[in-house]
Amino acid sequence: MPIDNPILVIGATGKIGSRVADRLAARGHPHRAVSRSTAPAFDWENPAGWARAMEGMHSAFVTYVPDLAAPGAPEIIEQFTATAEASGLRKVVLLSGRGEHGAELSEDKVRQSGLDHVIVRASWFNQNFDEGMLLPSILSGTLALAAGDKLEPFVDAEDIADVAVAALLDERHNGATYEVTGPRLMTFADIAREISAASGLDVTYVPLSVEAFHAALLPAIGKDGADLLADLCAEVFDGRNEWLGDGVQRALGREPRDFADYLAAAIANGAWRQAA
Ligand SMILES: NC(=O)c1ccc[n+]([C@@H]2O[C@H](COP(=O)([O-])OP(=O)(O)OC[C@H]3O[C@@H](n4cnc5c(N)ncnc54)[C@H](OP(=O)(O)O)[C@@H]3O)[C@@H](O)[C@H]2O)c1
Repeated sequence: MPIDNPILVIGATGKIGSRVADRLAARGHPHRAVSRSTAPAFDWENPAGWARAMEGMHSAFVTYVPDLAAPGAPEIIEQFTATAEASGLRKVVLLSGRGEHGAELSEDKVRQSGLDHVIVRASWFNQNFDEGMLLPSILSGTLALAAGDKLEPFVDAEDIADVAVAALLDERHNGATYEVTGPRLMTFADIAREISAASGLDVTYVPLSVEAFHAALLPAIGKDGADLLADLCAEVFDGRNEWLGDGVQRALGREPRDFADYLAAAIANGAWRQAA
């Protein structure tokens, strides 16, 4: 792809989008990093503003919020791809979630569009524990989730961003669906133990029923958010994701980072220091 093909990065202040934008900036590749708080803004809830953000762009890295499995997401993604085509975009790299039926319907909308596309279908992110929704749980010492003793191949945001940037910049990835995971299947009890050992915190995993998890979320994030997260846990922690993907290896020709590498980097960057 010629260097002057600019890339729209949607969700550019988030865990993955910020890393994608940083990598493009480091290469000097023209890009426009957008979220609800940028000018121009990009808000999934305001389709009237999408074309302005897309103006002059060749490709887009797409983070959909709250989740591609949320009710109505496939219809919104269909509207997004139509607007993208009408705005002259040629390619979409979509960040998706692994083992989510609703997300697969959203992926299909991208595949059925006239756009070149790459699907980056990720397992749970390592960075949920220090940058994301599970940070307060780690700081409180209690990691309570409806995940039982199921195994998950947690993946590093740095690897997801590396795959996304490769997919954006190199046309040979077009049409691929990359199942990006880490190299190790781990339970949440393993995670609590490894974070505790590396950080000096005392973190315990408490498995909850889906009903108890929903009840615990309700006061904090309301019914829609609690429904979404409880349904997602019920779906993806039924054993379907207890296998390693090969998306990092296929896209980049190297092995993914291990959870131990993540811990070392996170602690070097000051993760969880506020709990000490
Ligand atoms: N976390 C996981 O383990 C996991 C695993 C697989 C897939 N995923 C998928 O990854 C995506 C989340 O990526 P992430 O963790 O990098 O995001 P994130 O860290 O939660 O950040 C969300 C980004 O989206 C922006 N945003 C929030 N609401 C928006 C809206 N209504 N319209 C436009 N932008 C909005 C935010 O910026 P502003 O607030 O400034 O708008 C921010 O840039 C979701 O689609 C999720 O399903 C997550």
